[in-house]
Amino acid sequence: MEKINITPDKVFCPQPMYIIGTKNEDGQANFSVITWIGFSWNDSPHIMLCIGGTKKTKENILRDKVFSANLVSTDMVWLADYFGCTKGNEGQKDKIPYEFTWGEKVDVPIIEQSKWVFECQVSKVVELTDSHIFVSKIENIQIDKRFENMDLQMIDLMQLDPVIYAPYHYFSLGEKLGSCNEWNQHFNLSE
Ligand SMILES: Cc1cc2nc3c(=O)[nH]c(=O)nc-3n(C[C@H](O)[C@H](O)[C@H](O)COP(=O)(O)O)c2cc1C
Repeated sequence: MEKINITPDKVFCPQPMYIIGTKNEDGQANFSVITWIGFSWNDSPHIMLCIGGTKKTKENILRDKVFSANLVSTDMVWLADYFGCTKGNEGQKDKIPYEFTWGEKVDVPIIEQSKWVFECQVSKVVELTDSHIFVSKIENIQIDKRFENMDLQMIDLMQLDPVIYAPYHYFSLGEKLGSCNEWNQHFNLSE
């Protein structure tokens, strides 16, 4: 395959989307969208959240060191779009209807409609030039009761139906390709 070189830019980072829930100083809930999210392991699972510039969400996390990460499924895409395109510092995000509750283990607001929610406690803050990375322990995961019989070691992502963000468009999943360690079924191997 002949390849070409392109300039590194923030536009090539296809990612699942998460609505991030935090609590304002006055106790009100605030939600935004963060797609610069990665997972890591240190004795237990962690989330690495990268927030650039100045944002209400960042202010809240720097103060309280907690947040919720609510997986965005296709039925929530425009709610997430609204949260990601409005600023908490310009007032309550209450132009469209949505419901939220509070975390079981961490004091953070949680989107009722989200099928998969992480309650997180920040364990390390990495301050970069214009961004902060929050390495955060996952203290609890709330999932839709309908998934209680799902094999949680082999999550059926099609049922979670996540939105994939590839700046600046939203996509849904196509089809399942197969399972891990099945590679030898997909080649003609001679002994
Ligand atoms: C689809 C989408 C993805 C986003 N991903 C990120 C991200 O990964 N990191 C970030 O700092 N901001 C991201 N944003 C921007 C914030 O969500 C946006 O600045 C929001 O207004 C912040 O809200 P707040 O001021 O209430 O915290 C994203 C926005 C959208 C719409």
